[in-house]
Amino acid sequence: MSRRRKIYEGKAKILYEGPEPGTLIQYFKDDATAFNAEKRAVLDGKGVLNNRISELVMSRLGAIGIPNHFIKRLNMREQLIKQVDIIPLEVVCRNVAAGSISKRLGIEEGTPLPRSIIEFYYKKDELGDPMVSEEHITAFNWANPQEIDDMISMTIRVNDFLCGMFATIGIKLIDFKLEYGRLFEGDMVRTILADEISPDSCRLWDVETNEKMDKDRFRRDLGGVTDAYAEVARRLGIIKESEGGGAEIVSINGDKGDK
Ligand code: TMP
Repeated sequence: MSRRRKIYEGKAKILYEGPEPGTLIQYFKDDATAFNAEKRAVLDGKGVLNNRISELVMSRLGAIGIPNHFIKRLNMREQLIKQVDIIPLEVVCRNVAAGSISKRLGIEEGTPLPRSIIEFYYKKDELGDPMVSEEHITAFNWANPQEIDDMISMTIRVNDFLCGMFATIGIKLIDFKLEYGRLFEGDMVRTILADEISPDSCRLWDVETNEKMDKDRFRRDLGGVTDAYAEVARRLGIIKESEGGGAEIVSINGDKGDK
């Protein structure tokens, strides 16, 4: 692994050069950060869980025709992905008020929104990822109008699909963040879903108890972060209950350890 060329290191993931042109390897770290990396921790096993959860979600989205960067999982912490040029925007979709919208607009957390709301944030750590409008996006050329349309329509489809998927396992999808990239195919450019979809990038509440099963457990010092992620994985069928009462990751390709 150390001999591979590192292309980019983010807060929770590393991208390495892939085995073929146009591919990358996405490595999931155990690092957790919040509030623009002011708060940091290493959460044992988080990367393994996010790799598996993101694999499952991206595969299912691919199966219903939402183009995304996922190709295949390589091992416990790594997946092979298509190389894209990341559009420098975070696309947030909200169904229920929580987090920054509650703060900004004074809406009590847990209040269902009149309709799903999509927001854009400019990816710029130095500025703390400020919220921006479509006017800013086109004026500064971060994305063109067609790409904005593509991102909005795909985000709505992702939201519909994920709301249903999580509802069947007793989880409410409060909100989530997506990132998109440009995939170059000959002289064609396509907008596809990239990054990850995991409890790091979603708010997931238990339907019965409203218990948080996502990164807010870390942001708000609620404890039990990886246990909550493991419970999401268990309900998705990624982890099975072992005889001893503990949890065991279900092996798909027979690889259980890091390579
Ligand atoms: P927010 O309420 O803090 O704006 O977050 C909205 C959603 O976006 C929530 O599901 C968490 C996710 N998110 C990220 O994935 N990365 C981030 O840097 C932030 C601020 C939020």
